Amino acid sequence: MHILITGGAGFIGTNFVRTTVETHPGSTITVLDKIGYAGNPANVEGLPGVTLVVGDIAEKDIVDPLVKAADLVVHFAAESHNDNSLLDPSPFIYSNIVGTFNILEACRKYKVRLHHISTDEVYGDLALDDPNAFTDATPYMPSSPYSASKAGSDMLVRAWVRSFGVEATISNCSNNYGPYQHIEKFIPRMITNRIDGVRPKLYGDGLNVRDWIHVLDHNTAVWAIIEKGRIGETYLIGADGEMNNKNVVMLLNELMGFAPDDYEHVADRAGHDRRYAIDNTKLCEELGWAPHFVDFRSGLEDTIEWYRSNESWWRAAKAETEAKYAAQGQ
Ligand code: NAD
Ligand code: DAU
Repeated sequence: MHILITGGAGFIGTNFVRTTVETHPGSTITVLDKIGYAGNPANVEGLPGVTLVVGDIAEKDIVDPLVKAADLVVHFAAESHNDNSLLDPSPFIYSNIVGTFNILEACRKYKVRLHHISTDEVYGDLALDDPNAFTDATPYMPSSPYSASKAGSDMLVRAWVRSFGVEATISNCSNNYGPYQHIEKFIPRMITNRIDGVRPKLYGDGLNVRDWIHVLDHNTAVWAIIEKGRIGETYLIGADGEMNNKNVVMLLNELMGFAPDDYEHVADRAGHDRRYAIDNTKLCEELGWAPHFVDFRSGLEDTIEWYRSNESWWRAAKAETEAKYAAQGQ
């Protein structure tokens, strides 16, 4: 099998490529990644059977021949950070919507199986006391330009399945953590701040809840959907990992040897979603998937250790990332 993995030099894509090399040794992989600020070629270079093509999914002429040569496309490539989408939505429309359109058109033309990676944010947010969690029947209600662009890409996939018979599945996953995540994101930002002697910064009251899943669990679920999922279906991926941001910071402080309440509150994010929560019943019961990394404390400890041991991987981006946050009062 020859697999085209878009966005394979970013956080989740890198982990997916590296695991797939081990779990599917007979396969070859092409990574298509524009190597923007969040993509790092060193993440995948030199892996057996893996070729990196540096290019933009929003350019049809780049996408077309790569899809033609593939048996399967796993589509991770996207602009992925809410805060950036509030500063400038345009790259989100370009990559996430126009890019997905190109992928779909090529999959239609060459009849190639597609798995589209999406996010739970397309469903908007839940109140802290809502007894329900997101399912694939929850209405779409995106809050930010990022989540609206992902919602748009999901709608395109659904339409291409129904009207053109494209063989696609969709997954909507909750917040990932683990190695290779860009330091603009919450957990790696907090870890690298602590390494630099800076107190973690909580947006607003810090009571927003995210449903944390280890990136390697996200990726075993993606493979379960590719291998056993029904075409045209949407599967929500989550590992019952709800925790509010304040509790994440307090745990992180404790694990890194600081007083739990050694953090500060900073300006809130505009339109900040209050809570995400995934009902993973369909994924678990229909496809027999279960998460492996069920102990968040030890998963976080391993992640802290990864950032401590791989300072050369993130150091170059730290000053610029923090300067951008400082300009926003965050
Ligand atoms: P990331 O920002 O770390 O990686 C995205 C990668 O896509 C980068 O390598 C970037 O260079 C590449 N890319 C962006 N635009 C491109 C374009 N136009 N052409 C080619 N490559 C392009 O993001 P991530 O956290 O790894 O997210 C990957 C996917 O998973 C995204 O689709 C995101 O919406 C989805 N997702 C992320 C999470 C999470 O918690 N991080 C949760 C659910 C879903
Ligand atoms: O739910 C899935 C989504 O999870 C993905 O689709 C996105 O690509 C991914 O970035 C993530 O979105 P969030 O906006 O939830 O993640 P982020 O890491 O930016 O923030 C997590 C929470 O922490 C959120 O409530 C905002 C808060 N936060 C974030 C930063 C960077 C802080 O309190 N302080 C911070 O410094």
